[in-house]
Amino acid sequence: MTSDFTEITATAIRDNPFQAIGKDWMLITAGPLGDCNSMTASWGAWGELWNRPVAVCFVRPQRHTFGYMERAEQYTLSFFGPAYRQTLEYLGTHSGRDGDKVAAAGLSPVATPSAAVTFAEARLVLECRKLYAGDLLRDAFVDTGVRDEMYAAGDYHRMYVGEVVRAWTR
Ligand SMILES: Cc1cc2nc3c(=O)[nH]c(=O)nc-3n(C[C@H](O)[C@H](O)[C@H](O)COP(=O)(O)O)c2cc1C
Repeated sequence: MTSDFTEITATAIRDNPFQAIGKDWMLITAGPLGDCNSMTASWGAWGELWNRPVAVCFVRPQRHTFGYMERAEQYTLSFFGPAYRQTLEYLGTHSGRDGDKVAAAGLSPVATPSAAVTFAEARLVLECRKLYAGDLLRDAFVDTGVRDEMYAAGDYHRMYVGEVVRAWTR
């Protein structure tokens, strides 16, 4: 990590997750330096589970990031200031399958202590250790209206629950 990041405990995170994830968006990044991929996400949460601080994110199987998430033991959730809105828009509308979109977006990858990757430009980083990965299930939806609205194509998200092992702000 670069020296301008300050490590904090998960309980010291002051961001509101509804705003930070849902409105400002985050980057999910999986894979080591030189072989990683990032995508924008606006669905997710953080809180307490299994006596640990956790963050939850959701990745559809057709994302290039999906394979990286499957192979990764650690991954990061990175949050940025308003100046990076267009960068997140770009990374959420282009696929790493078609080229090095992170380089095209102008972000500077940096390795975290557990060899995951985040970016020097991030203002908040959660380094996560994968605890649980499982697909949302068609028959588990209580509100089938939500299911039919969100999953008409049958491409159910895989849910990843990660332990927040380290966090940094700037
Ligand atoms: C604002 C925004 C939020 C998004 N949230 C998610 C999400 O939570 N889960 C998901 O699977 N895709 C989400 N996407 C779509 C991916 O970011 C998009 O398909 C991206 O191009 C995938 O890149 P990749 O193929 O390199 O993995 C979102 C896109 C945008 C623009």
